[in-house]
Amino acid sequence: MCGIVGYVGNQQALNIAVEALRRMEYRGYDSSGVAVAGAGTIAMAKRAGKLANLEDKITEVGADTLQGTTAIGHTRWATHGRPTDENAHPHMSFDGKVAIVHNGIIENFAPLRDKLERDGVELKSETDSEVAAHLLAQAYNEGDTQGDFRASALKVLNGLEGAFTLLFMHADHPDQIIAARRSTPLIVGVGEGEMFLGSDVAAFIEFTKQAVELGQDSVVSITADGYEIMNFDGSPAEGTEFTIDWDLEAAEKGGFDSFMMKEIHEQPAAVRDTLAGHWDGERVTLDENTISDTDLKSFNQVFVVACGSAYHSGLAAKYAIEHWVRIPVQIEVASEFRYRDPVLDERTLVLAISQSGETADTLEAVRHAKTQGAKVLAVCNTNGSQIPRESDAVIYTHAGPEIGVASTKAFLAQVAANYIVGLGLAQAKGTKYPDEIRAIWEELEWIPAKIEQVLQVREQIGQIAQTLGQVKTMLFLGRGVGFPIALEGALKLKELAYIHAEGFAAGELKHGPIALIEDDLPVVVIVPSPRGVSQLHSKIVSNIQEIRARGAKTIVIAEEGDTAVEPYSNWLIRIPQTPTIMQPLLATVPLQFLAADIALECGNEDIDKPRNLAKSVTVE
Ligand code: F6R
Repeated sequence: MCGIVGYVGNQQALNIAVEALRRMEYRGYDSSGVAVAGAGTIAMAKRAGKLANLEDKITEVGADTLQGTTAIGHTRWATHGRPTDENAHPHMSFDGKVAIVHNGIIENFAPLRDKLERDGVELKSETDSEVAAHLLAQAYNEGDTQGDFRASALKVLNGLEGAFTLLFMHADHPDQIIAARRSTPLIVGVGEGEMFLGSDVAAFIEFTKQAVELGQDSVVSITADGYEIMNFDGSPAEGTEFTIDWDLEAAEKGGFDSFMMKEIHEQPAAVRDTLAGHWDGERVTLDENTISDTDLKSFNQVFVVACGSAYHSGLAAKYAIEHWVRIPVQIEVASEFRYRDPVLDERTLVLAISQSGETADTLEAVRHAKTQGAKVLAVCNTNGSQIPRESDAVIYTHAGPEIGVASTKAFLAQVAANYIVGLGLAQAKGTKYPDEIRAIWEELEWIPAKIEQVLQVREQIGQIAQTLGQVKTMLFLGRGVGFPIALEGALKLKELAYIHAEGFAAGELKHGPIALIEDDLPVVVIVPSPRGVSQLHSKIVSNIQEIRARGAKTIVIAEEGDTAVEPYSNWLIRIPQTPTIMQPLLATVPLQFLAADIALECGNEDIDKPRNLAKSVTVE
């Protein structure tokens, strides 16, 4: 996820901005840059790659060309456009007077870009961000906002759609930064005779512990002497001042004990950002997709290839796609795919799901699928990585960098992206009416708020884990789309707590695994909505009774209002009502907490780096 920093003060801003960027490195990035305002000019340095590359660039151009007491800086996690020098931030306006840095997605950048090009502006990057710099210069140079930095900034901000944090600097106002946030983070740091901006407090914690939290949809203007907060219409607004009581390491984790905990809490944003831009008000848009509607119509089967958690997200997609599109979906762990000689042809869509985009097993599966003439659509979280590069098309998940080795927010973002693909196919093939697709989309749009609600179970899960103590084994049961959730819950527990855990399709239990049930064995059961396919719900209620009768202790995850499960639950974890097909996006969250808490009970403190695991598995 991009990191943003800003400084206005009494010291050379370059050094402070570079230091602040170093504090943003933990967020993950692929390029970085700074711009410094001097008297009447703005100078800039930016480079793809690590911060060391930026420092080399600064040495090349000479630090003396970047003198001034106001600066903005950026670490970029590529979304629109590859990680190149040109696409790195800051971006400058056509007249060289404006510099901007941006985090988030400007959803209406395409029409804005077209308009700028019609006005004769030459855009230098492939990003959605650059338009903001040119628009500000245009607003400042002409019309009723001419010469007025603040009015120009507000005009531009009101014309942008999407979620964004933006920092604007203007050469004619070298002692001021105007910044805005809409659904993405921005914090103000208050020093003595100096002010800071950061995506989070880690940016400036070295310099000040006084900070101001901004409300949603806020604009802030900072100078060395203070800050002024306003709404997007320019009316005055308030922030909330607070004193930072974290040390630097905690600050980087947003106050959480681990990156994994932070990432679990980032899931509402991960899903929201992944959905963003894929609904134009009427239709699902697969805008990063280079597979035509004709291709989509022609597919008569789908193969999903992926590993680990990504595989589980694909298994959820199988239920959704078969239901919505009425074509067969086969799912295969990527490492097995090419060795069993699957039957593929040009009417086969291969969905390759990978957070890192570098997993060797999945990459080889993609290569094999292409040699067989199938079309490959990647679902990936890492811009410019190998799997999307070798695929015919890509839908990016916008979960931001995932630092915890065990996948959490990337998994939920994958499920969301897979569902976008499913809806795109149903739309192209006409297997769902437009109003049905709209209804499903609206349910998806509710999911981030519902995940926020599920995050409230944190404390309850902590208590369950404490009561369970050092368990030796645990089972997870689900039916229908609850089955992939069960597999994902078991995988998280294995990874983090190093204990035996297995996920089963609940109906399969009687065919063998029920022999494992003994007194006090904890069994997690994911219960489908009672409002859905009714036999599914009543069957799993019977399954819970069967295992309870044999001494198991049940941890039941069921939606609010489902009273039928109450008599059979040792612990009952509630999730908001949602169509069963959407349940993986909610019911997985308590299982992530459960795995982390049981890991801590078992004495595994470092849940970010479980033993023997690597974040990107680049060997087969
Ligand atoms: C589990 C986990 C792994 C990955 C798998 C695929 O928590 O993180 O199972 O899901 O290694 O990785 P990607 O998605 O990068 O291909």
